[in-house]
Amino acid sequence: MRAPTGAVTIRGVAAPPWKIKVVEPIALRPEPLRRRALLDAGFNTFLLRSEDVFVDLLTDSGTSAVSQEQRAAMELGDEAYAGSRSFFRLEAAVREVYGFRHVIPTHQGRGAEHLLAKALVKPGQLVPSNLYFTTSREHVELAGGVWVDVSIAEAIDPESTHPFKGNLDLAQLERVLAAAAPERIAYVRVEACVNMAGGQPFSLANLTGVRELTRAHGVPLILDGTRLSENALFIKDREPGESERTLPELIAAIAALTDGAIFSSKKGHFVPIGGLLAVNDDGLAQAARELVVIYEGFPHYGGLAGHDLEALAQGIREATAEPVVRHYVSQSAHLASLLLERGVPIVVPVGAHAVFLDAKRFLPHVPQDEFPAQTLAAALYLAGGVRSMERGIVSGQHGTDPYTGLELVRLTIPRRVYTQEHLDYVADVVTEVYARRELLPGLRMTYEPAHLRFFQARFEPRAAFLEAASAPAATAIDG
Ligand SMILES: Cc1ncc(COP(=O)(O)O)c(C=O)c1O
Repeated sequence: MRAPTGAVTIRGVAAPPWKIKVVEPIALRPEPLRRRALLDAGFNTFLLRSEDVFVDLLTDSGTSAVSQEQRAAMELGDEAYAGSRSFFRLEAAVREVYGFRHVIPTHQGRGAEHLLAKALVKPGQLVPSNLYFTTSREHVELAGGVWVDVSIAEAIDPESTHPFKGNLDLAQLERVLAAAAPERIAYVRVEACVNMAGGQPFSLANLTGVRELTRAHGVPLILDGTRLSENALFIKDREPGESERTLPELIAAIAALTDGAIFSSKKGHFVPIGGLLAVNDDGLAQAARELVVIYEGFPHYGGLAGHDLEALAQGIREATAEPVVRHYVSQSAHLASLLLERGVPIVVPVGAHAVFLDAKRFLPHVPQDEFPAQTLAAALYLAGGVRSMERGIVSGQHGTDPYTGLELVRLTIPRRVYTQEHLDYVADVVTEVYARRELLPGLRMTYEPAHLRFFQARFEPRAAFLEAASAPAATAIDG
């Protein structure tokens, strides 16, 4: 079927604007092996081996498929330590697509966050932001800064259908800036398609409001552009008056409202490794270049190989192609619509890169301090070899503050990797677990790392978990 835009859709999903040339084998392990793997991993999906996973929806980070153009560009990688041609091609791509004058490559997004925090955050200074991201907040705090959430209330309401849950609460931001700017504000951070809210976008009108406030109070505005292309597409589709603008125009318009950005290029730029700090201010760029040689490498490679820089430069351009971004976003929408049809509680509206299961409503009998989202992620793996990620109290609990926020399981879709059949299978596994949800007990944490505990924490079940999570349907597929 042909949609009004000329794009082809297949059963509601935008047709993939690519075909598959190289494949990687995957297989569903028999259930006894999945049980063993889950026990060995301490019920933490981060600690599973990839060979034990069938459909891997842990993350969209570094898991995209590269294009033939990226592979071809990699052949041109200039591995010179300094002055590499590959760096200048990357710089040209960033200037062309985002318009930022200075580019400092880093090994991945948190490398850029580290440089930014070191360069801009002084002890006691505030960083107001729409919700938070784990590594972004950690780097600000390690530099002595204080994170301030100024997202709109709908951001943490999984049932609110607000189209732009990534918006900042402008009145709240104004209050914070009026009380502290400019001396006690390091910068205002705006994240595109807020990961921890379920991949929810901000509107251009809201970003314009943020720009006016930051300008009036003399503080920098920094974008987390990790999922900028998807945010731009949501603006095109949802924001009145924006449908006629092209995706590249919208991407450039967003970037132009900010003073700089960090990117985890492992997501929307289709590379397995890489990140960027891109800024306009000469002084900030100079400070970042002085820091990058300590933590990442020479400013012309920042911890990446020349061939990585080439793949990244090409990926930045591919990330502006509307059919590519539209297909990706419609994969999330497809999985979400299957789950909604079957009554499974998910975060609405569907975000950019994932479907988020609402574990509080999925497992209402498991109290939040027994880790419902962690429990559910473990159950999905056991039931059908589907790997997902906890985004609830394990990820969000911070210091001694009680955590009462969102309790989500993220089914994250790698870009250009899985087919509609894989997503249909995932929907069946989730439905199977949902049918037996009452049997699932919560978990007890047996090991808690000091930083970013979700990556390596270990758990044990409070009751006979493994029996409850066994899935006849999935075993039948296995047989
Ligand atoms: C919004 C956002 N910012 C920053 C990062 C950190 O990037 P990286 O994982 O490349 O270090 C991530 C990673 O998931 C992210 O989602």
